[in-house]
Amino acid sequence: MILKVARLGHPVLRERSKNVPAGWWNDPASRQLIRDMVDTMREYRGVGLAAPQVHVPLRVAVIEIESNPRYPEAPARPLTVLINPAVISRSAEMEDDWEGCLSIPDLRGRLARAAKIEIEATDENGNVQKIAADGFFARAIQHEIDHLDGKVYLDRMTDFSGLAHLDEYYRYHAPATEGS
Ligand code: NI
Repeated sequence: MILKVARLGHPVLRERSKNVPAGWWNDPASRQLIRDMVDTMREYRGVGLAAPQVHVPLRVAVIEIESNPRYPEAPARPLTVLINPAVISRSAEMEDDWEGCLSIPDLRGRLARAAKIEIEATDENGNVQKIAADGFFARAIQHEIDHLDGKVYLDRMTDFSGLAHLDEYYRYHAPATEGS
């Protein structure tokens, strides 16, 4: 089921979401929520979605980076469910890149994130997994964890000349893609 996405200004996006208790992932309602989050992310062509974005203030997020028309330059990454993600380490090295957010429609912003990140998170089957990520996947993880802490990417921006509407982003800022 496709869920309604909270937009910037809704207080749920500014709350610190709560950890889910052990075993939460076995509850049919929890499994349904995760399925619905995946459906919603795919419907709106996002590369990630955090539970507070669908009005559920729990520390759950999904990420899936496929050949995505909204992010043609991002390398693929299969569906990853992050439950109670915890950061183990972030690189001191930072990387500037563009990101968008389904809760902030029609905008892209350029901002620095740690180039590499290592996290621990529970998956949808209750298995604890360590994930070491770099590039766009590392960026997506940091973006989603920010949502769980009540932050959006605009909070991380230091130079608003790197803020663009989507059309202008594609026209003036997007990396050249094949055939363009
Ligand atoms: Ni977002």
